[in-house]
Amino acid sequence: MEIYHISAECYPIAKVGGLADVVGALPKYQKKAGHLVRVVLPSYQTKFRSQNDFECVHSGTVQLGNFNFPFSVFKETTDKLGYELYLIEIKELFDRPDIYGYQDDIERFLSFQIVTLNWIISRETIPDIINCHDHHTGLIPFMIKYCYQYSKIEKVRTVITIHNGLYQGQFGFDKLFYIPEFDLKHVGFLDWDYAINSLAVAVKCAHAVTTVSPSYLDEINVFANGLESLFNSVRDKSKGILNGIDIEVWDPSKDAMIAQTFSIKDFEKGKQKNKEKLCEIFELDATKPLFSFIGRLFEEKGGDLLPEASALALAENFKAINILILGSGNARIEEQLTELKKDYKGNYNVFIGYNEELSHLIYAGSDFMLMPSRVEPCGLNQMYSLRYGTVPIVRRTGGLKDTITDFGDNGNGICHDQASVGDIVYSINRAVELYDNKESFNKIRTLGMGTDHSWESVCQEYIEIYNLIIRKNEI
Ligand code: ADP
Ligand code: GLC
Repeated sequence: MEIYHISAECYPIAKVGGLADVVGALPKYQKKAGHLVRVVLPSYQTKFRSQNDFECVHSGTVQLGNFNFPFSVFKETTDKLGYELYLIEIKELFDRPDIYGYQDDIERFLSFQIVTLNWIISRETIPDIINCHDHHTGLIPFMIKYCYQYSKIEKVRTVITIHNGLYQGQFGFDKLFYIPEFDLKHVGFLDWDYAINSLAVAVKCAHAVTTVSPSYLDEINVFANGLESLFNSVRDKSKGILNGIDIEVWDPSKDAMIAQTFSIKDFEKGKQKNKEKLCEIFELDATKPLFSFIGRLFEEKGGDLLPEASALALAENFKAINILILGSGNARIEEQLTELKKDYKGNYNVFIGYNEELSHLIYAGSDFMLMPSRVEPCGLNQMYSLRYGTVPIVRRTGGLKDTITDFGDNGNGICHDQASVGDIVYSINRAVELYDNKESFNKIRTLGMGTDHSWESVCQEYIEIYNLIIRKNEI
């Protein structure tokens, strides 16, 4: 099968969050399963782009309304990633350092989608499947079906994988003329609530819709930032598939980014070494339990609850616990978390920013990982934590509900139901008791480390969906 994954992020090329990890791993395992797999993303000004070799395989000019932008398609030459990587370079729009957050993001990602399709139709073979990821690629299923210039590939089957339904890529009909020509009788497919809503377009037009966990599929039928009824209406062609993790990148027995490697057989000493390293860097107390948080500091992740919950937990367990936070996002939350440093020096620290290497050390050296998310379509941190022998403390939602059960029910973590300061502190207090009971603590850590969340076992579920929509029109 010839499969294209089209995305805004892909690890190690360009990463903001879990979308990158998934797009950097799933294709690799699909290729190992015998398929021809290509990943296409914009060519940002990243380290990966400047430090690796590429050859130009196609070029031209893309028209976006009254503007014309020259573009080139570059192929990574070594194939070392385990799949074919293509970067779409569009001068003026993507030669910038950040992935998102520019005023012209609509123009940027729309031109990316148009160039991708222009390039695909210029090739000799027609793909079997185009798997789009999130709203940045949401207009592709519409354009393939209805824009005249893509009629050569109108039968190609498309899948939209929803990593986060809160972000939808809406824009006004005043930009309709950016979209290549189509019969206006199809314009209704573009419309949701009087705007062009890229995610809704994909959900309407793709042959299949997948979410990144089964529970998230249930949740978006009741809470999806205005798209609930749409998700309900396409239930028949939707499936929730729990993400896997790349066990080659996230392997505590081989990880070059941590202070001491370890495996399920000897994790206690190895984890302690990593904890000591972290405590040395962040001036924490390595004899006490270490609770960490890694992630985007937004309400969605429960980031707004962290300052108060940390302060309360540190006060209640004075000098008996450590809390370490790695993240960035909302400026107010960043400020509040930074403020706390002076009150709990020696037991609390925060690193504002993004640091891939440090994240590995934190997964390896922590005792507990906090994930108080309000919304978590899948969540990868809890699966990385399990693999590194760190016990996840999660709010039961989305993929967290699908992967973590409370140790009180013989499970692999600590769970609470409310996204509240009280629930987080209560869970931390339960964790402190668990930490003091070495036998139970080690039993849970061993259970987590032994769990298989690898893509090998998951990627077949995607292939089954692809096969279904190739055979029939939809699932
Ligand atoms: P989301 O994609 O919603 O942010 P996920 O749990 O799916 O959440 O994935 C988050 C990914 O981003 C993980 O690989 C996590 O380790 C990483 N990450 C998040 N914030 C940071 C940070 N500040 N520094 C390093 N890695 C981070
Ligand atoms: C999104 C979600 C996260 C998920 C990730 C990868 O960023 O917020 O829960 O794990 O995508 O699918």
